[in-house]
Amino acid sequence: MNPNGTMLLELVDISVRYGQVRALTDVSLGVGMGEIVAVMGPNGAGKSTVLKAVMGLAPVVDGHVNWRQQRLTAPTHEIVREGIAFVPQGRRVFTHLSIEENLEMGCLYLNDAAEKQRRLDTVLELFPVLHEKRRDLASQMSGGQQQMLALGRGLMAGPEVLLLDEPTLGLAPIVVKEVFQKVAEISEKLKTTIMVVEHNIKGVLDIVDRAYVLDMGRVVHDGTPDSIQETDILTRVFLGKLDTGEDDE
Ligand SMILES: Nc1ncnc2c1ncn2[C@@H]1O[C@H](COP(=O)(O)OP(=O)(O)OP(=O)(O)O)[C@@H](O)[C@H]1O
Ligand SMILES: [Mg+2]
Repeated sequence: MNPNGTMLLELVDISVRYGQVRALTDVSLGVGMGEIVAVMGPNGAGKSTVLKAVMGLAPVVDGHVNWRQQRLTAPTHEIVREGIAFVPQGRRVFTHLSIEENLEMGCLYLNDAAEKQRRLDTVLELFPVLHEKRRDLASQMSGGQQQMLALGRGLMAGPEVLLLDEPTLGLAPIVVKEVFQKVAEISEKLKTTIMVVEHNIKGVLDIVDRAYVLDMGRVVHDGTPDSIQETDILTRVFLGKLDTGEDDE
């Protein structure tokens, strides 16, 4: 969509270290307004750290994040108000609360009751399953339904950008498909810009405009789904056969 255009949200030369562990090294990537962009890569590649770096939840030692072309300096708890919502890995829903109460947790900071109701109506319309079960406890939902709830809660913040960490993790193939369809629908109907971290390459490449491939904390490839599938980068990265160019044998 806009590979060379202006980015709405952008990591610029970000390096992250957890003690001795270099989780990210000089990572630059971003998402343009209205795009769906994937961040892919094997376990430990640094995918979650990319999203955490945006949210101020990772120890960034170098680089910065740009939001609407300006440096993002807001502390974590204010970032959601800036228009960036984060749905973390592992769909942490509040099991002892009802579905509607869970959704309301997504916009706690909002004092405007009419706006809250408007958002709730939008989310319940987008997710019929949440509407149907809105008074049930979240603990009574299946894994796929809990993931829909986690997406819905993210949307309650009324975000311009939604950051999704592994939304299909641990779900059955048919449910994986439903989640990807829902992500595409959010993009289409609400015009939300989306950055999605995924393991599930096949499914995610069907819905994204562009994707970045991460390996050992570095961006090793980026491009459109077609351009990525034309290369063998994914096989190489996922089978651990990437030639880094540094230690050729
Ligand atoms: N809190 C932490 N403390 C120490 N090391 C961490 C921490 N979080 C992540 N790491 C390390 O940083 C690297 C990147 O982790 P990250 O969670 O971003 O990977 P990922 O690509 O999301 O992996 P996965 O697919 O398993 O979710 C890994 O080596 C990981 O062990
Ligand atoms: Mg992760």
